[in-house]
Amino acid sequence: MEVILAKHAGFCFGVKRATHLAFDAADKGGDTYTLGPIIHSPQVVQRLEEMGVKSVEDVAEIKNGSTVIIRSHGVAAEELEAAVRANLEIVDATCPFVKKAQEHVATLSKEGYDVVVVGDAVHPEVQGIVSYATGRVYVVSSGKDVERLPRMAKMGVVAQTTQSFEHLNEVVAACLARGGETRVYNTICDATAVRQEETKKLAGEVDCMIVIGGFNSANTKRLAQICRELLPRTHHIETAGQIDPAWFEGVQRVGVTAGASTPKWLIDEVTERISAIDKDKIG
Ligand code: F3S
Repeated sequence: MEVILAKHAGFCFGVKRATHLAFDAADKGGDTYTLGPIIHSPQVVQRLEEMGVKSVEDVAEIKNGSTVIIRSHGVAAEELEAAVRANLEIVDATCPFVKKAQEHVATLSKEGYDVVVVGDAVHPEVQGIVSYATGRVYVVSSGKDVERLPRMAKMGVVAQTTQSFEHLNEVVAACLARGGETRVYNTICDATAVRQEETKKLAGEVDCMIVIGGFNSANTKRLAQICRELLPRTHHIETAGQIDPAWFEGVQRVGVTAGASTPKWLIDEVTERISAIDKDKIG
């Protein structure tokens, strides 16, 4: 059985950076916390917990003088301010691409633009981005949503980093159609699109797909959905232990991909387990 691993399976740049910063902070010892899970990987969160890093929901739960790690998709401006007021040592692991989106929103507000954020209103990244606006700010998920917004003379548009370019385009077109001045910052990061394209191609070339990543990871769930549409023999797992050897009955080629928050060690364990199952079959 041939095992084909997608080239960009696993950590994106921002998650890799955040994870390194978190493990470095954990290595230093002392009371260390994250505000919410550092990334959407229960296994990484558990490893950090074993090293003494606690995940809390609110700055108020953190002891004075501790270290707090800010997760890759950022936190709200007020939470960061609360951490500063509480004299916490801040390790800011916000992905630089997310940071850019936050900065653009702050600048747009300062320069008198009403801000339109293209994204999912309940996603923590979007809630963080929105919090940097000091004036009017709206979250939209389609061009239709733009039509329902109040009159605006100056509109500034930014996007959640994981949005598709087509989606941003649709919203911008709707903003332009309303008239007035429109300033657009393309804050999309292509890591998501690259993984999705690659996964789609791979799913079309194999008999079975294994998608690795947190069951709470939106980008991993999306990868599994893309695969399933092309190949019903798709399995979303978090760890190698969840693999059922029966999945590979009659399979010649198996494709493996992983979400942007899946660490390399989990991917390695999965590919090793598949190879071991194959050897058992032959032996
Ligand atoms: Fe950053 Fe893009 Fe990853 S925004 S966290 S590099 S998906």
